Amino acid sequence: MSLNIAVMISGSGSNLQSIIDAIEKNSLKSEIKIVISNTKNAYGLVRAEKHGIKSRYLSKNNYNSPREYEEELLEILNNKKIDLIVLAGYLGIVPGEIIKHYKNKIINIHPSLIPSFCGKGFYGLTVHEKVLEYGVKVTGATTHFVDEGVDTGPIIMQEPFKIEDEITAEELQKEVLKIEHKILVETLGLIENKKLEINGRRVLIRR
Ligand code: GRF
Repeated sequence: MSLNIAVMISGSGSNLQSIIDAIEKNSLKSEIKIVISNTKNAYGLVRAEKHGIKSRYLSKNNYNSPREYEEELLEILNNKKIDLIVLAGYLGIVPGEIIKHYKNKIINIHPSLIPSFCGKGFYGLTVHEKVLEYGVKVTGATTHFVDEGVDTGPIIMQEPFKIEDEITAEELQKEVLKIEHKILVETLGLIENKKLEINGRRVLIRR
């Protein structure tokens, strides 16, 4: 089934690009109706533009109240008849009203094996620095549904990455990013084909 997708970004948008590429090579049936960034100069906005995808800079700092920002975001999502919101490198907080309205219809990609190295302050290179600092032997990436918490919603997919001794945080970030791109597209494919069954905190995949 083709989903109307909204992708929310804050930065380079390489995860957004992986969705765009998958759609353009018909690996995904969905359509990105809008890309929303909370940072004005996010390169992800350039990626959207290059692929003729509507985009919008939307920051809560430009509204008189959180409620006004929330109403604007809800209106955009309603107008585009969005079925699924994808947080792809999005560093903002999704307002509670949106999470309620789109229960189990918002997914996030995180660059670690949740529940390790996630939550407040764990984003970007910091995640990989903490992974190396701790000395874990395996890290990876996770897709999950978004709930009221930070990186706490039910886990959909995870893929591990074995850490070699001499790897740097930057090299690790690059390796994990490849996994992010892969499992994000696979997760969207499962949702398109209605293969997910949510059972409390467990997400069962009916392949
Ligand atoms: C990635 O590490 C992603 O996991 C995190 O933000 C970083 C940048 O992602 N959420 P992108 O290149 O902007 O998609």
